[in-house]
Amino acid sequence: MNQPVARLHSLRSVQLRIPTLAESTDFYSEVWGLSVIEQDHDDTWLRGTGGNHHVLQLSRSERNGLGRISFAVRTRAEVDEAGRRLAARGVPMLLEPQALESAGGGYGVQFVDPEGRLIELVAEVHAVKPLDRDRAVPIGVTHVVLNTVDIDRAVAFYTDVLGMRVSDWSEHQMAFLRCGSDHHSIAFNQAHWTSVNHVAYEMPSMDHFMRGIGSLKQQGVTPLWGPGRHGPGNNTFSYFADPAGLVCEYTSDVAQVVEDEWLCKVWRRVPELSDLWGTAGPPSRDARSHMAGVEDRGVLDLITAAEAAR
Ligand SMILES: [Fe+2]
Repeated sequence: MNQPVARLHSLRSVQLRIPTLAESTDFYSEVWGLSVIEQDHDDTWLRGTGGNHHVLQLSRSERNGLGRISFAVRTRAEVDEAGRRLAARGVPMLLEPQALESAGGGYGVQFVDPEGRLIELVAEVHAVKPLDRDRAVPIGVTHVVLNTVDIDRAVAFYTDVLGMRVSDWSEHQMAFLRCGSDHHSIAFNQAHWTSVNHVAYEMPSMDHFMRGIGSLKQQGVTPLWGPGRHGPGNNTFSYFADPAGLVCEYTSDVAQVVEDEWLCKVWRRVPELSDLWGTAGPPSRDARSHMAGVEDRGVLDLITAAEAAR
């Protein structure tokens, strides 16, 4: 059996394509608690209090979509090896292993998953000094939930090719995948089309989490759903809509997995398990609609055009 292409260390950053660059930059920097680290005409890069150069890249676009999900690997040699293994598996690569010229630099490889999502493995990104963690602002991005048209194909790709492990299922509707000790860095949700469901930002503690929600409330931003605590992953949640209508989450206290001791289970989808505290109730139609988003072909059109030109 083929080995995974790399050993992923952690989820590093997410790029979102949006038509509301100015408004979203203001929201994530003035309200949500990230800080702008670089900016140009079409992009903003934002950091949390953690050591990642950036955790969110906002890019100007005509419609909402996922730009890129970036995972850290340890070394340049691992990126090179990933490039060889991706090629051997026939996975379409958008960027062969090379030094990256975008903000934060690093050495990376970019490839495409079966639904057109652009995935990057990167090492040697510029380090930044961690910031004060007393403030109720995110450390960084901790997970991304992706709507998929084929949850089994998605899980197969991310486990087989990327070596992620399934921590839990929520019936046959959601699958939670980890690459480190956090219960999930990626989750898939079976849906009618491919899109981003939400991006979650880690708060240092439950106290930070509640103070963060309070700070948003003071600024007139109220949750779409939450606060509450999920069964799968045991993490706290509070979901909000950003100016582009994409969903962002404050979370904390996600379950820590000890490899070889964790037993993957299938959770029933009942209110008392998706909302352990009973504080959130079921998600509203509005929340569901934001989480469904709009259909996103990612880079599938680029790939098709490249194949046609060959
Ligand atoms: Fe989440």
